Amino acid sequence: MSPLILSFPEISTFLLLIPPLTIIFLVYNYSLKSPPLPPGPFRWPIVGNLFQIGPNPHMTLARFAKMYGPDLFSFKLGTKLVIVGSTPAAAMAILKTHDRSLCARFVPQVAPSKCQKKYDSTIGWVDECNESWKNLRTFTRTELFSGKAINSQALIRDKKVNETVNHVAKHMQGKEVKVREIAFGAVLNMMGNILVSKDMIEQSNESLKGELCEIMNKITDVASSPNISDFYPILSPFDLQNLRKRSMELFDRSCQLWEAIVKERKASETSSPSPPDFLDSLIQNGHSTVDINNIFMELFGAGTETSSSMVEWTMAELIKNPRCMKIVQEELAREIDQDKAVKDSDLPKLTYLQACVKETLRLHPVGPLLLPHRAIETCTVMNYTIPKGSQILVNVWAIGRDPSLWEDACVFKPERFVNSCLDFKGNDFEYFPFGSGRRMCPGMPMAAKHIPLIVAAFIHSFDWSLPQGKTLNDIDMSEKYGIAMRMEKTLLLVPKAKINII
Ligand code: HEM
Repeated sequence: MSPLILSFPEISTFLLLIPPLTIIFLVYNYSLKSPPLPPGPFRWPIVGNLFQIGPNPHMTLARFAKMYGPDLFSFKLGTKLVIVGSTPAAAMAILKTHDRSLCARFVPQVAPSKCQKKYDSTIGWVDECNESWKNLRTFTRTELFSGKAINSQALIRDKKVNETVNHVAKHMQGKEVKVREIAFGAVLNMMGNILVSKDMIEQSNESLKGELCEIMNKITDVASSPNISDFYPILSPFDLQNLRKRSMELFDRSCQLWEAIVKERKASETSSPSPPDFLDSLIQNGHSTVDINNIFMELFGAGTETSSSMVEWTMAELIKNPRCMKIVQEELAREIDQDKAVKDSDLPKLTYLQACVKETLRLHPVGPLLLPHRAIETCTVMNYTIPKGSQILVNVWAIGRDPSLWEDACVFKPERFVNSCLDFKGNDFEYFPFGSGRRMCPGMPMAAKHIPLIVAAFIHSFDWSLPQGKTLNDIDMSEKYGIAMRMEKTLLLVPKAKINII
């Protein structure tokens, strides 16, 4: 038999081999063309790595990065593929080089934009960086966050921080106070007066009261709860934990609050404040009442919890580090007369205090994993495939504590930011607590004023001591992961006015 002529059994064997050989060829060919997924832990069927993440995902993911990374690794939350970047190189690849492909948002099921049919007046919870997102970011940048706008808000900041100090001196001296709550009231009223020329909270007597405060605390709880609908979108119509229902109820309640203010302003031109505020700009720009409700809820939500938590963390670090506290006190005494209130215009002179805030943001960034991004399209990042639709996290917390980048990485050492050009403006990929790129925090210039001003006023006006019987070791620096990372046990301190400041 000629070697080129096959017998029937040989032909049939050959035909049988064609399909598996084709598959092997295609898989091999595909794997040559497209790089693999980032490595990661073994994924269990159905649940993936859901039960391995725990209550502090930023810490677990930092551990995973050491095992499977360091740059990029992947894991699964239910059906969701998640990719995590944990080094400056990975952060730069995600937030700069591939920003265009990876700038979409992973929008949680409790976000109002997921629950309402037409909801495009949001910056944070819009899926893709579309025209309305771009317009709203540009509008808020011009009206609220530009250098000119921030300077024009200085008098409001001075007035509200001074009122807070007086309130504490009058009603809280010698008592145990929750530092975060006082800071929250100050930030809320600063923002209230910048946005709608109104105090949002009544700082009456002992405790801070206000419908908005209550609603926002509840929204934070709902938004911070792990939601099964996010891990298995197929289950989202059932809202098994009632989280979306609760979110919508809270959202409706908050809208009623704004509606009254917006209606009053729209009804009467004479009720416009002078100078005009952000609400006037929104109305002039043709925004509907519903749009305005949404925008307010987003700005108050994003701006208050974050800044007040940062004030609490900074005060906790300073109390725990008396050496640093002493330097801050000396700086304040040197730069500002004791009988004068701290003013916004004093901030540029307070370089050590500003370094303390930066150092606190390094150790305790309120968004330790930024906000989740989403891949708009499949792309190759650092020789790995990032499939379309996957969720992208950047572990800014892990980068901020990486011993290969920072000397004494876990020690509070504000000196590292004195005379350093390292800043949080999004250009340094070893330090970016406000993010970087298209989705970077637009409120950064505002937070960069609110936080140091409140801390400076607190320390300039009061001596702060620990509650009776407590020592420095009792200050619990454990972190509670959530929509904004807080201290797990709120900081309780006792203020004593340095002079009669009322
Ligand atoms: C300590 C203070 C703050 C910190 C650390 C912080 C941090 C962040 C971070 C990490 C992001 C996500 C960036 C990303 O996904 O890549 C973000 C987004 C955002 N922040 Fe802030 N933030 C702060 C204060 C504020 C303030 C004061 C406002 C407004 C009044 C604000 C408004 C927003 C908004 C609207 C977004 C969504 C941006 C978008 O998706 O395009 N934040 N912030």
